[in-house]
Amino acid sequence: MKLDQARALLTGAAGGIGTEAAEALARRGARLLLVGRRAEPLDTLARALGQRHGRSAGALRPGELPPDIAWLAADITRPEDQARCAQAAEACGVDLLIHNAGQPAFGRFEALDAERLHALIAVNLLAPMQLSLALLPGLRRKPQAAIVAIGSALGRLGLPGHVAYGASKAGLRGFCEGLRRELADTPVRVQYLGPRAVATGFNSPAAEAHRIASGSRADPPAEVARALIALIERGEAERHLGFPERLAGPINAFLPTLLDGPLGRQARSLPAA
Ligand SMILES: NC(=O)c1ccc[n+]([C@@H]2O[C@H](COP(=O)([O-])OP(=O)(O)OC[C@H]3O[C@@H](n4cnc5c(N)ncnc54)[C@H](OP(=O)(O)O)[C@@H]3O)[C@@H](O)[C@H]2O)c1
Repeated sequence: MKLDQARALLTGAAGGIGTEAAEALARRGARLLLVGRRAEPLDTLARALGQRHGRSAGALRPGELPPDIAWLAADITRPEDQARCAQAAEACGVDLLIHNAGQPAFGRFEALDAERLHALIAVNLLAPMQLSLALLPGLRRKPQAAIVAIGSALGRLGLPGHVAYGASKAGLRGFCEGLRRELADTPVRVQYLGPRAVATGFNSPAAEAHRIASGSRADPPAEVARALIALIERGEAERHLGFPERLAGPINAFLPTLLDGPLGRQARSLPAA
C-alpha cells in the first residue's frame, strides 16, 4: 500500500506504540484519524504532528472538511462509539484501519475475575472485529485498503502470567488469518504484526520484573512502528518481532509440548493469586 495516498484510522493513537506509529505514518505522508478515549493527548499529538509535518490538524467536526491529522475521542468497546468511528472513517475516506488499542492483564489467571476477563476480550478482540465489520463496506469500495492488527508474540506462544492476554491476541491472529483468506479476492488486505515486549507504559512494574526474571528483552516502540510501516508497504500477511520469540512461535506450532518444561517454570516467579 502506498502510504502517501492513504488515510489511516489508528486506535490507541496516544499510547506508546500508537504515538510512534502515528509519527511514522505521518512521515510517510499518510493522513490520519487518531482514535483513543482521552481527547487531550489526542489533540496534543495531532497538533504536534501537524506542526512537524506541515499538515492541518485538529478534532474531526461533523459537517466540516476533515483536517489531514484528525482525531476522535471514542471508546472502541462501546457500540455507539464504534458507529461514530465508522461515520468518521467514511467522512475521512479511511482506507487503512489499524487496530492498535489494547489492554494488558498480567498475573496468574486465577487472580482475574469474570468482569476483567470480559473487559479484556472486549477491547483486545471483540472491538477490532466489530470495528472491522463496521468499516468493511467502505474499505471494500477503495481501490486499495488494509486492516492491520497489532497482536503479540503471546498470540502464538502461551505463557504463564499472560494466559488471558495471550488468548485475546491468539484470537486476534485467528481473526486476521481467516479474514485475510476470506477477502483474498477483494482490494482489502488483512495483516497482523506480532511484537514481543515493548518499552511503553503498557506493562506494570510486576510484569516488567517478571519479564526481566524470564530473560526476555523489550524493544523500543519506534522499532515496532518501523516494522508496522514495512508490513503495510510490502503488503505482508504477518510479521513477528524479536529473537528468539520469532522462532519460538513456529516451533511451538509444530511441537506444542516441547517448550512446556522451560516455559512452565516461569510460573514459579509469578506473584501469588
Ligand atoms: N507494550 C508491550 O509490551 C506490547 C507488546 C506486544 C503488543 N502490544 C500491543 O500493542 C498495542 C499498543 O500497546 P502500547 O504498548 O502502546 O500500550 P499503551 O501505551 O498502554 O497504549 C494503549 C492505548 O490503547 C488505548 N485504549 C485502551 N483501551 C481503549 C478503548 N477501550 N478504546 C479506545 N482506546 C483504548 C489507550 O488510550 P486511552 O487510554 O486514551 O483510551 C492507549 O493509548 C496493544 O494492542 C498491545 O496489546 C504491546
